Amino acid sequence: MSPAALVDRFGRQITYLRVSVTDRCNLRCLYCMPEEGVALQPHEAILRYEEIARLVSVAARLGVSKVRITGGEPLVRPGVVELVRRLASIPGISDLAMTTNGVLLAQNARDLAEAGLQRVNVSLDTLRPDRFARLARRDHLAQVLAGLDAAEQAGLTPVKVNMVVIRGLNDDEVVSFARLTLARGWHVRYIEVMPLGEGEHWSEGGFVSALEIKERVEEQLGPLAALPHRSGSPARDWRLPGATGTLGFITPVTEHFCGECNRLRLTADGRLISCLLRGGEVDVRQALRDNADDEVLQNILRDSVSLKPSGHHLEECRPTVSRGMSGIGG
Ligand code: GTP
Ligand code: 5AD
Ligand code: SF4
Repeated sequence: MSPAALVDRFGRQITYLRVSVTDRCNLRCLYCMPEEGVALQPHEAILRYEEIARLVSVAARLGVSKVRITGGEPLVRPGVVELVRRLASIPGISDLAMTTNGVLLAQNARDLAEAGLQRVNVSLDTLRPDRFARLARRDHLAQVLAGLDAAEQAGLTPVKVNMVVIRGLNDDEVVSFARLTLARGWHVRYIEVMPLGEGEHWSEGGFVSALEIKERVEEQLGPLAALPHRSGSPARDWRLPGATGTLGFITPVTEHFCGECNRLRLTADGRLISCLLRGGEVDVRQALRDNADDEVLQNILRDSVSLKPSGHHLEECRPTVSRGMSGIGG
């Protein structure tokens, strides 16, 4: 490990930066946002692309090699392809990905790939149009499916599909999602709902554990074979017999992966967050706007990393973050 690396108090090296580029979204998923949306940040509060690129360059020199662009929904921010181009050209960034709801992916996939985006993770919770319209409060399933196809064609692979599973809302579709991996090379990942933002309403009666999902899938489709664990990934991966794609389980609630957490988050308004669930924000926007030296920015990154807790304690208490998922980007 280089002496310049970003290492926290528990010896975890930070190599992954999740960058939220907007708090806006073109969907209103029940577990994420209320119908009327959430209070949005004013325009001038949002980091400009050159400010984001500057911070990523500094982070890259401290050993960050993986960057994920998130939102809100990143594709609603104009010019995001240009941000991808800037980030892709930063030395040391070897994994550049995006998490999107896929609604605007069909028309952007080729440009994103051409600008240097390597892959996408698409959030999709149902394969039924009527249910999509209810769950996301917008009737856009066809666009998302077209977006997934376009992503694959553009080479934004492996395409990952993230399904947040909620009892009574979409848990009856876990087997249909698993079937997708038989025909397509997608990585389908089931996510346990976290008591965060609107997710608070769904985390009690609606909670479905990864174990239960796995049992349901195996009952219908046969035993899953475990794949080697990729360090730093929140998912445990499996494969159905004969499948092209894989199945992953993200278990923030029943089996947290904090011990190998390698990530730091940047919000759209320029705050660094060292833990998704434990709060503690450090402002980096002011320094960027003051055109501070690299050293100042490095120190701010280090300050944020030094605040990183050993992990969350969802089993004992509620999360302490003051923003919902739409403000952090997952
Ligand atoms: P890959 O690089 O493809 O492995 O992506 P990723 O899993 O890091 O990113 P993605 O945006 O697809 O994250 C999937 C979901 O996992 C998020 O939306 C969260 O629900 C959950 N998640 C990701 N990172 C964390 C984390 O640090 N803590 C917790 N509790 N949950 C996380
Ligand atoms: N629990 C788990 N995942 C969530 N997401 C949003 N809210 C929650 C929650 N309460 C997921 C989205 C998307 C990612 C950005 O975060 O479905 O996959
Ligand atoms: Fe990392 Fe915090 Fe998520 Fe645990 S809850 S994996 S420490 S960000």
